[in-house]
Amino acid sequence: MKKNGKFYITTPIYFPSGSWHLGTCYTTVMCDCLARFKRMQGKDVFYLTGTDEHGQKIETNAKNAGMTPKAYVDEKVGKLKELWKLLGISYDKFIRTTDKEHVAAVQKIFTRLYEKGDIYLSEYEGHYCVPCESFWTDAQLKDGKCPDCGRDVKLMKEESYFFRLSKYQDRIIKHIEENPEFLEPKSRKNEMINNFLKPGLTDLCVSRTSIKWGIPVPFNPKHVIYVWIDALNNYITALGYGSDDEKLFKQFWPADIHMMGKEIVRFHSIIWPAFLMALDIPLPKKVYAHGWMTFSGDKISKSKGNTVDPVVLSDRYGVDAVRYYLLREIPFGQDGNYTNSIFLSRINTDLANDLGNLVSRTAAMIGQYNGGLLPKASARTSDDDKLIAQAEGLLPKITEFTDKLLVPEALNEIIKLAQACNKYIDVNAPWILKKNGDTDRLNTVLYNLAETIRIIAVALTPYLPDTAEKILAVFEVAQGNAGFDSITKFGGLKQGIAVTKIPPLFPRIDIEKELKIFEADALETQNAQLAAAVKADAPSADKADKNEKAATETVVDDGMISIDDFAKIRLKTAKVIACEKVEKSEKLLKLTVRLGAETRTIVSGIAHKYTPQEMVGKNVIVVANLKPAKLKGIVSEGMILCAEDEERNLSIAAPENGDFPDGSTVR
Ligand code: MSP
Repeated sequence: MKKNGKFYITTPIYFPSGSWHLGTCYTTVMCDCLARFKRMQGKDVFYLTGTDEHGQKIETNAKNAGMTPKAYVDEKVGKLKELWKLLGISYDKFIRTTDKEHVAAVQKIFTRLYEKGDIYLSEYEGHYCVPCESFWTDAQLKDGKCPDCGRDVKLMKEESYFFRLSKYQDRIIKHIEENPEFLEPKSRKNEMINNFLKPGLTDLCVSRTSIKWGIPVPFNPKHVIYVWIDALNNYITALGYGSDDEKLFKQFWPADIHMMGKEIVRFHSIIWPAFLMALDIPLPKKVYAHGWMTFSGDKISKSKGNTVDPVVLSDRYGVDAVRYYLLREIPFGQDGNYTNSIFLSRINTDLANDLGNLVSRTAAMIGQYNGGLLPKASARTSDDDKLIAQAEGLLPKITEFTDKLLVPEALNEIIKLAQACNKYIDVNAPWILKKNGDTDRLNTVLYNLAETIRIIAVALTPYLPDTAEKILAVFEVAQGNAGFDSITKFGGLKQGIAVTKIPPLFPRIDIEKELKIFEADALETQNAQLAAAVKADAPSADKADKNEKAATETVVDDGMISIDDFAKIRLKTAKVIACEKVEKSEKLLKLTVRLGAETRTIVSGIAHKYTPQEMVGKNVIVVANLKPAKLKGIVSEGMILCAEDEERNLSIAAPENGDFPDGSTVR
């Protein structure tokens, strides 16, 4: 594909504290998905991440571990890189603030600002929070403690260099107001202007004499450069700014997106632009502050002790299950809640049922009905045209959403296409076409399914790269042929290629069993808060799963029964006259059925295969003398009969003659 422009995206540089949880992975996974998306659009992408390694906290941690700060950070950085590798983070550069190129460039920047008069020497007094590495004014303290983490602060006074932040206040306000795309989401813009900029900026302390572990001020080495001027400049030093080779800087600056969590947006939308203005460097195009991943409503964080381990989740359920959850669950600019049960349900519904099942079922049908070779499509029906239009419309839709950072919406479009394929299978029933010897139609249906799945897989690549690769391998599609330009038109798959069967991409999870494991793990950590949250999560999901099981379980007895036994079961024909989804259930539908003169309510576990709209008007066979049972608070008066194959596809049993009167006995 022809290169069409550049794209520079950054995460904040991470504290090498050594404990990374699901929340911390959000920024890198989101940026990774955008970087991969832009690469597939043909852009020259530079994706930067790294580590923020200086400051008193690291100095103290290293001392406690009996290590030098450098040895301490080296070990932690190694671990962080392993985590990013596990999650498939495709960064182009990993910058460390201890890199000698960064150190030299930051010293140059500091000197330049000093010579320009934007940095001056004075004295600082304030309340300092060591873990947060932040000074707070009296007004900012919350009950005398750090407003961020709630811990004790200490009053500190020392000779310090200051940056003239106040000088840039009006220019920053003007920039934010005149460039609505600069700071997103909009709510953050109002917050920055009203809470920080309008009340007035005070000059910023940018050096310390009390800390040793940092970059020395070149012309006064008893001071080290204090955190933000060191950390924020990574975004330009990583491109060679301030070195002998500024080629990358010229190519990629200004950044297209600086992405970060909302707690550090102030530094990125006020302090960072002021540094850049002082250096006469253009501002980044966009600063985007995402919401937090919360656990049962509370921000996931190490200090709160409610961490969720991405390595454990990836090992148990696959990396793409974790990526999917992160990308799907945090709405644009808002917080997204994690609970074990929501996580597991998402895997079962979207990934196992809608996507994975579609792929294995289609590959299995091509194996069974056409010897594993992709057949040729012939004349299209209007049903085919609908599916094809949806498939060809997928790329424009996900592009529109992803460009606006509406990644959950983009993923939803992809899953919607998978759902449309599943419906297409149910409506076209390839097994019946096979039985009736309608080979042309069968071949067309199989081809359309395979080709739509290829389009789904290519579209899925930036979000779930491993899964996409596995799906494409089923249809012999090599990486080089899986670019976005290959999915603008339907029909890319060649007739006759070998289609390989694959095991389920996301095996269905026994949610009840898994939640018990989570509960046991949480208890083992001796963390009462975490254990309580996990326990609170368990019962509802537990109950829902049990109910759904009860609803779908048919009484099966391998032994023979007598005709008298069978006669005890009263089967009747019925017509569905109304139907709706049962709230908070993946599987249950509430149906109103007519059996001649009688009307009943039946709750049935078929929602994963049939929509309420599809059910209305259908003829069914019901077990009419089943003891009523309460499912999700609804009394169910009977059971609908369905056939179920090995892949858990359902087909509703009904009298052959569609006009047969409802309420008739089935024998
Ligand atoms: N070192 C600073 C950034 C300096 S940038 C010049 C820092 N590091 S961090 O390790 O604490 O955070 C790294 C990223 O993880 C940030 O984007 C932060 O918002 C994100 N998250 C940490 N916990 C999070 C959640 N619970 N949810 C979502 N993102 C969160 O800040």
